[in-house]
Amino acid sequence: MSSATHITLSQIERYWIHRFGDKLLLWVYAKLFAVMLALFLCFPKQQRMSHNNGIGAAGKLRIVDHPEFPAHPFFAPGREFPVRIRHASATFLDDAMNCIRSMSIKLSDHHFKSPFDIEMNSGEVSLFWSAASFLKFARLRGEKYGIEYRDYNRKYPNGLAGSMAAGRRHATSFHNLHYYCKTPFLYMGSDNIKRYAKYRVIPADNEPESGKEENPSEWDQCNQRILPHETRGRNYLKYEYEDRIRREGARYRLQIQTHPASDNEDPEVFNNMIVWDEDAHPWQDLGIITIDRTLDWKESTLTTFSVNNMPKTLGVLPAKSIFDYNSLNYLRAHSELARKARMLSYKVYGMVPPIPDNDNRNVSDWGV
Ligand code: HEM
Repeated sequence: MSSATHITLSQIERYWIHRFGDKLLLWVYAKLFAVMLALFLCFPKQQRMSHNNGIGAAGKLRIVDHPEFPAHPFFAPGREFPVRIRHASATFLDDAMNCIRSMSIKLSDHHFKSPFDIEMNSGEVSLFWSAASFLKFARLRGEKYGIEYRDYNRKYPNGLAGSMAAGRRHATSFHNLHYYCKTPFLYMGSDNIKRYAKYRVIPADNEPESGKEENPSEWDQCNQRILPHETRGRNYLKYEYEDRIRREGARYRLQIQTHPASDNEDPEVFNNMIVWDEDAHPWQDLGIITIDRTLDWKESTLTTFSVNNMPKTLGVLPAKSIFDYNSLNYLRAHSELARKARMLSYKVYGMVPPIPDNDNRNVSDWGV
């Protein structure tokens, strides 16, 4: 049974699909979701949809000299790009909580413009698998008391598996975690053969990953709060990263997996809850990222990423309905309004302050 079958349709959705079609419903949901985010979260509360707690940094990416992945002119051997990255924690403003961690990369030293962006979270699989599933997730997730995914996880066990895979508590550094883009993208290389690609980042020196909880119980996983007698501060991971970059910088290995497209493709290839078999799809080195400076709070907060920042031959795959696995990236591609609303809010109300060291723990809002 595919994961998509866990989501049921309401009467209104059934009527809509019957009357107007699947693709139009997807478009309406994507636009409505972006407008709601912009009007109720990003502008008035000056927040990202998620990942507000983060730190930006800059350096360069050098594509490997002898690629083993299918040739692509954008990833020409030895090519160098300036990069900006942002490491963040979703969703709480407290590094010591059990959170999903992220690394987003843009191949430019600008806060938005870039020829290629990729956003990645910890964990090989995700918490949701289609627009339909994501919207259920958005409705059921909470923020109060540091318990975010309990209601969603109870209803959708695949979501629990995803949050178990992605949660990292007491990571020693953002640098030694593994980050996965999860959803596949188009990869149309120099040979004009259609393929799909997934990306990940690991530390360049293969330092072991920290912060994984072995076999957490369902409740342990749903309780993201700091542990009793926690000594780590709200900003400990960001401070560690600043110290590390000042001291020695950071090097990461950007890797790629490719899958040749076929006419009768199994839709599960696009399911971001299913890991591509590594024997058939080995991770191949794409390039080395070298980070040599961190960005201040204001520049980190202004730095933002988009699935639309990609060459056409490497971009988002088309989606046909709210159940299509590729509809996740369709939603993301249609969420630009949310980012613009957040940027506008800084012009109107001013920049949000840095996350204070000494304030309430386990919270996702400033000043509560
Ligand atoms: C598995 C799929 C997804 C992954 C891996 C992912 C990853 C990320 C990451 C890492 C960030 C933080 C970027 C930063 O540091 O600024 C982010 C932000 C965001 N994501 Fe996702 N995301 C996914 C799905 C979605 C979906 C389905 C939507 C639906 C619209 C979405 C909308 C957003 C928005 C609006 C932001 C904040 C943008 C901003 O204001 O700068 N994401 N995502």
